[in-house]
Amino acid sequence: MRGIVFTEFQQLVEERFGMAMYDRLVCTVDTETQGAYTSVGNYDYHELLRLVEQLSKVVDIPISDLVKVFGHHLFKSFVRAYPYSVVGITNTAELMQSVESVIHVEVSKLNPDAELPMFKLTELGEDDLEIVYESTRPFADLAQGLIEASIEYFEDGYGLTREDLSNDGTSARFLLTAKAGVTACMT
Ligand code: HEM
Repeated sequence: MRGIVFTEFQQLVEERFGMAMYDRLVCTVDTETQGAYTSVGNYDYHELLRLVEQLSKVVDIPISDLVKVFGHHLFKSFVRAYPYSVVGITNTAELMQSVESVIHVEVSKLNPDAELPMFKLTELGEDDLEIVYESTRPFADLAQGLIEASIEYFEDGYGLTREDLSNDGTSARFLLTAKAGVTACMT
C-alpha cells in the first residue's frame, strides 16, 4: 500500500488523539519501519490494519468507525495531493466513474506497486448509481468513508446505503441515490 495512506493515517492520529498517541501505537504494534513511513514508500497494508486495531483498543472506538473517519480524512488529502483528479467533476457519481476509469488507472500507471480496489458501476435509472467494491484487501469501510467525504465535498445531496457482500470487508455494494427534490431547475 502506498506510503501516503500511512503518512495520512499518522497525521489523523496526531490531529485527533495527540502526538503521543502515534508514538504509543508504534511502540506496541509490530511494523517493519517502527512506524516511520514516507509518502512515496510502499508498505504492507497489514501494518495499517494492526495500527488501527491497536488504536481501537486504546481509544475504545470500533475499528470500522475509525476506518470510515480515516476515509474522510484521506479524501481531503487525495484532493490536496492530486488536485487534477477532481478538475471538471461536479458530483460523486461522476467522481466514481472517474476513479474507476481514470484516477486509479493513472495511480496504477505511476505506481506499479499500488494496490487498488475494483469498482463495478451500474447506472440505475437516470440518477442512481450502484457501486460494487471488490478488493483483495478488507477496506470496504475505507471506501465508505471516501464516498461519504465526496458527497460532503461536492455537496451533491446523494444518499448512500451499503450492503456487505462478504463478511471480511473485501466486497460491498453501495447505492448512491439522488436525493428526492434536488434536481436542476431550468428558468
Ligand atoms: C470516492 C472516491 C474514492 C474511493 C471510493 C477510493 C477508494 C480507494 C480504496 C478503498 C483504496 C484502498 C485500497 C483497497 O481497497 O484495496 C484506495 C487506494 C488509493 N486510492 Fe482511491 N478512492 C477514491 C478516490 C481517490 C482519489 C481522488 C485519488 C487521487 C489520486 C485516489 C488515489 C488512491 C491511492 C494513491 C491509493 C493507494 C494505493 C495503494 O494502496 O498503493 N483515490 N482508494
